[in-house]
Amino acid sequence: MKKILLFTSILAIAACSKKINSIAPSEASVAMSPEMAAGKEAYEKYCDSCHGLKNPASESAAEWREIVPEMANMSKSRKGIAIDEQTQQQMIAYLVANARK
Ligand code: HEC
Repeated sequence: MKKILLFTSILAIAACSKKINSIAPSEASVAMSPEMAAGKEAYEKYCDSCHGLKNPASESAAEWREIVPEMANMSKSRKGIAIDEQTQQQMIAYLVANARK
């Protein structure tokens, strides 16, 4: 009996710590990591000015990994707006998660 009690309390502790670690979804349906959320925001801020926002599902994950640095260069050379490496990685995280499968 004692053993069972001990086992259930360990399970309870494990269940609790799992809850603390999991990220609360920012939207009801899609669980977005903080990195992806930052990437979405940056995408909407930086990628809208020349051609409007492209649908994330219009490109594959591999394509987004190439396009984002290319477009960051484009933004810098044509508009003088630099997009730092971390922000590019956040955009890639968001775009890749929603890319064409
Ligand atoms: C300075 C203007 C400018 C900004 C800012 C810009 N783009 Fe572009 N983008 C272009 C132009 C011009 C083209 C078409 C010419 C080309 O493909 O090289 C293009 C084409 C594209 C294409 C389709 C062409 C391909 O390579 O398949 C995608 C997707 C794209 N951009 C995504 C983005 C994303 C994501 C961002 C933000 C990081 C962004 N763009 C920011 C100018 C811009």
